[in-house]
Amino acid sequence: MKFSKDFIFGTATASYQVEGALDKDNRLECIWDVFSRTDKVYKNHNGNIAADQYNKYKEDVKLMSDLNLNAYRFSISWPRVMKEDGTLNKKGMNYYINLLKELKKYNIKAAVTLYHWDLPQYLQDKGGWANVEIVNDFIKYSELCFKHLDNLVDYWITINEPFCIAYLGHLYAVHAPGLSDIDITAKTIHHLNLAHAKTVLKYKEKYKKPIGITLNLQSPRPVSKKEEDINATNRARAFGSDVFLMPALGKDYPDIKELKFPIQKDDLNIIKKAGDLCDFLGLNYYFENLIQYSNKGPEFFKEAPMWQDTTDMGWPIDSMGLYRQLKWVSSLTDKDLYITENGMANKDILENNRVHDKERINYLRDHLKACQLAIDEGVNLKGYYLWSFIDNYEWSFGYSKRFGIIYCDYEDNQKRYPKDSAYFIRDLLS
Ligand code: GCO
Repeated sequence: MKFSKDFIFGTATASYQVEGALDKDNRLECIWDVFSRTDKVYKNHNGNIAADQYNKYKEDVKLMSDLNLNAYRFSISWPRVMKEDGTLNKKGMNYYINLLKELKKYNIKAAVTLYHWDLPQYLQDKGGWANVEIVNDFIKYSELCFKHLDNLVDYWITINEPFCIAYLGHLYAVHAPGLSDIDITAKTIHHLNLAHAKTVLKYKEKYKKPIGITLNLQSPRPVSKKEEDINATNRARAFGSDVFLMPALGKDYPDIKELKFPIQKDDLNIIKKAGDLCDFLGLNYYFENLIQYSNKGPEFFKEAPMWQDTTDMGWPIDSMGLYRQLKWVSSLTDKDLYITENGMANKDILENNRVHDKERINYLRDHLKACQLAIDEGVNLKGYYLWSFIDNYEWSFGYSKRFGIIYCDYEDNQKRYPKDSAYFIRDLLS
């Protein structure tokens, strides 16, 4: 297995999941600080310390370089860099300037996500993503980041996984802000799409780096050839993917009568324009769903039982699902594609300073082969970011799940230990 010289190969993280430094430099409260206090979160774990990357970023960038990684995808914490009155929090922004400079020093490219779920709580108090005003708030926040960071950034990603924001946060109540309302979900979906689109247009007025969005697409397959299962699968794809993918590509929303999008005059033109200008699509792939009919609304579909081995999240391992997803998306667009997340949670054990995570090595090897196969067949895949660089806060699962290729010892001052999978990656990229 060998990727071309210009193939981007990095790891990914997100601010709330790795930074810690809760009260440092006047970071404001975010919706996950609040949500982690509810019984929806494993043992009320929170991001107060996390992997402590805010304090250990130099050590981490050095480690990335030692592992031959040529890129790092991370996100900016909105409540760290912007005060409630919309002005700059200089100290918070300086953290990202320093991190970006450190990456430059080692020749590691930076893919920066503007929104990976840590919404300032004061905006949630005004209705969050369901309130149309958030679109302008998001543009202002993004402009602040562009102004201070663009010269050091290589790729911009507007929003990470709008699917999870909309459905997990506003319909299934398992992520912050913990709501369960289909109309709020529909508003959230539309405002996320609009915020992405308007931000892309704003960016293109002044700046030149590639800008895109990261989606976790549901590319389900029907469990049987029965018409009801095939229809259910199409519906699952419309709900889970098309409501984000089509707007991102500048195409029309699918027709789903349960989702009443609050579309205003011009919105669709803006979305269409941005769809044409957006430079790439980021795809987060973990597994593929098998779908069957269900008589229960509003979805009328459900996941069918799977047969594959599973990860510590209980997610089925199917590398060919990644291949199928890449082929499917590339049949819809010529845009550059990136895998912006792929990886697995594993029951990792630290023993004599080593972690023998052979399950993860197998997982990575197979998924990278699937990428290679897709590239060989002409898919425009330009890069791959492994989730994750280091063990971190897995949202409602807290620290009970480990996704990193670096082990984080939460009992001993967040000490870092490369796992065997890290050495596998180092040698693959050498
Ligand atoms: C997501 C997020 C990551 C997760 C990862 C593992 O996909 O949910 O982008 O923040 O930690 O995917 O679940």
